[in-house]
Amino acid sequence: MQFIIPFILLIVPVSFESVVPLPRPCRCLYGDPCWPSQLEFDVLAARVSQPLIQPLPPAHACYPHIDPSGNCTDVQANWQDGNWRADHAGAMQSPNFETFIFPNDTISACYLNTSLEYPCTQGSVPVIGVDARSSEDVQAAVEFAASHHLRHDYLGRSAARGAFLIWTHHLKNITFTDSFIPDGGPAFEVYENALTVGAGVQWHEAYDAAHSRNVTLGGGLSAGGSVGAAGGWMQGGGHSALSPAYGLGVDNVLQLTVVIANGTHLTANAYQNTDIFWALRGGGGGTYGIVTSATYRTRPSVPMIAAFFATIINSTDPGPSPVLERLYTEFIRISPSLSDAGWGGYASLALGAEGTSLALRFFFISPTTSPTQANDSLAPYFEFAQTLAANSSVENGGALTIVANFTTQVESFYAWESTIFRGEGQGQVGFNAELGSRLLPRDVIEKNYKRVAQILLALPAASFYFVGGGVVSLRDPSSTGLNPAWRKAMVHVLFGTGWPEGANASQIREAEEIVKGGIAQLRAISPNSGAYFNEASMFEPNPQETFFGSHYAKLKGIKAKYDPSDLFLVAKGVGSEDWDEYLICPRK
Ligand SMILES: Cc1cc2nc3c(=O)[nH]c(=O)nc-3n(C[C@H](O)[C@H](O)[C@H](O)COP(=O)(O)OP(=O)(O)OC[C@H]3O[C@@H](n4cnc5c(N)ncnc54)[C@H](O)[C@@H]3O)c2cc1C
Ligand SMILES: *[C@@H]1O[C@H](CO)[C@@H](O)[C@H](O)[C@H]1NC(C)=O
Ligand SMILES: *[C@@H]1O[C@H](CO)[C@@H](O)[C@H](O)[C@H]1NC(C)=O
Ligand SMILES: *[C@@H]1O[C@H](CO)[C@@H](O)[C@H](O)[C@H]1NC(C)=O
Ligand SMILES: *[C@@H]1O[C@H](CO)[C@@H](O)[C@H](O)[C@H]1NC(C)=O
Ligand SMILES: *[C@@H]1O[C@H](CO)[C@@H](O)[C@H](O)[C@H]1NC(C)=O
Ligand SMILES: *[C@@H]1O[C@H](CO)[C@@H](O)[C@H](O)[C@H]1NC(C)=O
Ligand SMILES: *[C@@H]1O[C@H](CO)[C@@H](O)[C@H](O)[C@H]1NC(C)=O
Ligand SMILES: *[C@@H]1O[C@H](CO)[C@@H](O)[C@H](O)[C@H]1NC(C)=O
Ligand SMILES: *[C@@H]1O[C@H](CO)[C@@H](O)[C@H](O)[C@H]1NC(C)=O
Ligand SMILES: *[C@@H]1O[C@H](CO)[C@@H](O)[C@H](O)[C@H]1NC(C)=O
Ligand SMILES: *[C@@H]1O[C@H](CO)[C@@H](O)[C@H](O)[C@H]1NC(C)=O
Repeated sequence: MQFIIPFILLIVPVSFESVVPLPRPCRCLYGDPCWPSQLEFDVLAARVSQPLIQPLPPAHACYPHIDPSGNCTDVQANWQDGNWRADHAGAMQSPNFETFIFPNDTISACYLNTSLEYPCTQGSVPVIGVDARSSEDVQAAVEFAASHHLRHDYLGRSAARGAFLIWTHHLKNITFTDSFIPDGGPAFEVYENALTVGAGVQWHEAYDAAHSRNVTLGGGLSAGGSVGAAGGWMQGGGHSALSPAYGLGVDNVLQLTVVIANGTHLTANAYQNTDIFWALRGGGGGTYGIVTSATYRTRPSVPMIAAFFATIINSTDPGPSPVLERLYTEFIRISPSLSDAGWGGYASLALGAEGTSLALRFFFISPTTSPTQANDSLAPYFEFAQTLAANSSVENGGALTIVANFTTQVESFYAWESTIFRGEGQGQVGFNAELGSRLLPRDVIEKNYKRVAQILLALPAASFYFVGGGVVSLRDPSSTGLNPAWRKAMVHVLFGTGWPEGANASQIREAEEIVKGGIAQLRAISPNSGAYFNEASMFEPNPQETFFGSHYAKLKGIKAKYDPSDLFLVAKGVGSEDWDEYLICPRK
């Protein structure tokens, strides 16, 4: 999930004498003697369209002795606003990725809560960077990184301590082409109303543009629509509530433009630079180059059917209750039939807390399901829940109340998205988060639905995303670089935990242990599957296999061709295993 649009490079000193590419030097961090001089930064500044930026952690403005003119009220008001964070080069969606834990467990951070009396320091926020407004700016920045042999994410992949930032947030161009033919493609291969988005375009902007053209495309869904439409989302796979009907992000890309490590600006599609086109669709953001634009096919805007279900539970005991276990188990049992009915969307299975709390909630959408099919697919479950609720009590495992249970027609995907996700844009981000992911194939769910429900019931903030199956499963797994596990997956399971601001390293490790335990259980029931690179744990024991599956060797080969010096590296991404855990020095 992170989608601050920044793109990070750490500076590597060059050794021009060497013709043998190995051994590669360690990265050069801010403060090291090899860090570029002021003069070198001035030369870069003269080449780019905007002044260089010096990002600061967002809570910086709450420390008057550092920033006397800072507006802390603004920071407090917007702390959980994904778009506000995306607008600030120094902010990540989850603040834990703005911090840095030294090997001695000291934490460098800048906390919002000044009462913690902790010094505000830079953490993992890059110290300087280019605010790119054109592909030429991106090229200049990449060349700067590369000539000094430089390099560079919800998962902190777009931030790194002591790094140089290439901020793509302001590459906001949006263009429609009435009849789009991929460059070099045959004249008969025409796509009507193709949408080209610059690297900094976010889904709320892409959806508004598509709506103004009366077309639809399935993109990421988040509070305020803050996820980037051409960056990490697409390159990691890019799921949507519409992907069961229209395919994943990678399945809808017609063409990409990308600045590679040697500064060349390439066009990649099914007719030219086909290998990097394959790799950029699933090989992960920040790995092959800097995508400057993506062209997507669109669909006509049509009315769709939506479903809503929400329950609350009032109990005296925290934790799993028999009522919730029955509610969840039945839901998981019928989930293959919901997928067959064409539904896409999101279910969250929150654990009961003491007192009144949200229990199962889901909201689905489908352009292919008929009103009758929609009702028939859910009515038995609604009745089941109603019976369960009527027979439940506070004393006996909790009183279940049904808040919503209906299907309805919506005018368009846009109407659905803007109603659900565009309110205040608050609440989904701005807290410390450690995630776990698993792609669950249909047969695993069919065979083990009771076990799946038990595991999810015990996990913190578990979600069951209907973003696989349907068209996602019909695509040839070898058509893109994406993890083939996606083609067998019916749902993406996501869960996560956090910790309060100011927690020490051992408390943070406890949260990590919860995630490690959860993914181990999910792996055990689905040993041949994988996880979603973009919304996953950084503690997967075998990330190459888990995130890329059988495509890994080919992805690595294409990286060797386009980025032989590993200028572009991200945590657990392609090629990262050749570097230490901080991605600073190559492994011997
Ligand atoms: C609140 C929230 C909701 C989400 N919802 C969804 C969802 O509905 N569906 C889904 O699939 N995922 C979702 N995600 C996960 C999301 O796909 C990832 O966080 C993704 O990495 C975001 O990409 P970005 O470009 O917006 O973010 P960034 O943090 O800017 O980038 C992420 C990674 O991609 C790289 N990158 C960014 N731009 C470029 C570029 N132009 N060229 C090359 N590399 C680039 C960065 O270096 C970094 O490694 C969500 C995340 C959050 C936080
Ligand atoms: C500070 O931010 C708040 C909230 O965004 C805003 O209402 C106020 O006008 C800002 N104050 C200044 C001095 O800019
Ligand atoms: C921990 O390491 C950092 C970085 O090396 C150093 O600045 C800090 O003083 C160390 N803290 C302690 C308590 O040793
Ligand atoms: C801020 O930190 C103080 C000191 O630990 C604590 O008492 C207070 O509850 C915290 N405030 C918030 C909003 O978390
Ligand atoms: C933005 O798109 C227009 C065409 O719509 C094009 O002329 C222009 O060069 C593009 N700008 C950038 C920065 O890509
Ligand atoms: C939008 O497109 C749909 C499908 O092509 C069409 O039925 C509808 O009339 C269009 N609406 C507008 C306002 O153009
Ligand atoms: C939860 O149940 C208790 C005990 O029956 C009751 O007092 C309380 O009002 C209930 N809470 C809600 C929000 O319904
Ligand atoms: C919905 O489905 C249920 C069960 O299949 C059926 O009894 C009911 O009549 C249906 N309602 C509508 C409006 O189709
Ligand atoms: C939805 O829940 C309400 C309240 O429990 C109930 O009256 C209604 O019959 C339910 N609808 C369906 C379709 O089960
Ligand atoms: C209602 O709850 C009681 C006590 O938990 C249980 O024995 C009974 O089987 C339940 N009835 C139904 C229809 O679920
Ligand atoms: C970390 O914080 C917890 C909770 O405040 C405390 O019990 C523990 O002793 C602390 N650990 C260290 C190493 O400071
Ligand atoms: C840049 O790299 C590409 C891909 O390896 C290669 O085709 C091209 O010739 C290189 N350009 C320069 C100027 O080195």
